[in-house]
Order: sequence, then structure tokens, then C-alpha cells
Amino acid sequence: MKIALAADHAGFSLKEASRDFLEKKGFVVQDYGTFSEESVDYPELAAEAARAVQKGECERGILFCGTGVGVAIAANKLKGIRAACCTDCYTAACAREHNDANILTLGSRVTGSGLALRIIAVFLETSFAGGRHRARIEKIKSLEETER
Ligand code: RB5
Repeated sequence: MKIALAADHAGFSLKEASRDFLEKKGFVVQDYGTFSEESVDYPELAAEAARAVQKGECERGILFCGTGVGVAIAANKLKGIRAACCTDCYTAACAREHNDANILTLGSRVTGSGLALRIIAVFLETSFAGGRHRARIEKIKSLEETER
């Protein structure tokens, strides 16, 4: 599975730790930056990684900022992206099972690296449950067509 990563300066060190973790687990990682702790704006970085997921170049994305909120809002502007900001493993599992989330967002100022790596593992290991949830995802997709 190929994973798109992106972070702003606040999320940089958690992105680095996550990339090592993912590569050790055998995932292929496409890193869209940032590559230092120098201050950068998160929207375009988040959008670049989200575009890779949107186009199918990467199966999932993981985005990092201070809270996980800004990158989630930015990524969710792209059609077909369902980005979930998760601070615990239960939410990460439900984001996959119920919401078929294709992007996980994490906040480095909220979630410590130990928990963040567990959340990532749960997010990547959990499948969409389908069933009653599928119709709800279709309704989210139809909002992309009707709401501007
Ligand atoms: C950067 O200071 C911070 O605003 C950003 O990382 C993020 O938390 C925004 O949602």
C-alpha cells in the first residue's frame, strides 16, 4: 500500500517518525513535505498529498499539523477525499469502518508520538465495513455534486 504524507512545520517531526514507522512496516511512502521546522502554510501541502489520494496514486494519506484540524479542512475541500482527524484508536477504526476515510490527520500538539503510531496502524489495518454505511458514503458523494 502506498501512503501519501504531508505536514506543516508543527507536524514535521511527527511526520518523520511516522515515515520511519511506515517504512519499517513495509509501506511505500510518498512524502510531500515539509522537510524542516521552518514555518510554512499547511493548505497547499495538505492538498498536494490529498491530490495523490484523489488520483489513486496513493491508496491512503496521512497529514500532520499542530492540531490535525487545518490539514483536515484543507484536504476535505477535494472531491472524493474523506479526511478524518483522530485522537484515539476507536475513532480511527470507525473512520475506516463507517466513513471509509481515505486520509487520517493527526495533531502533533495534541497526540504524542506513541499513540499517533498506534492510531496510524489501526487506520491502515481497518477495512470499510460496507453494508448500511455504503449508502451514507454515497450521500456524502452526492453532496459534492449539489453543494458548492
Ligand atoms: C501552526 O501554528 C498551526 O496553526 C497549524 O499547524 C495547525 O494546527 C492548523 O490547524
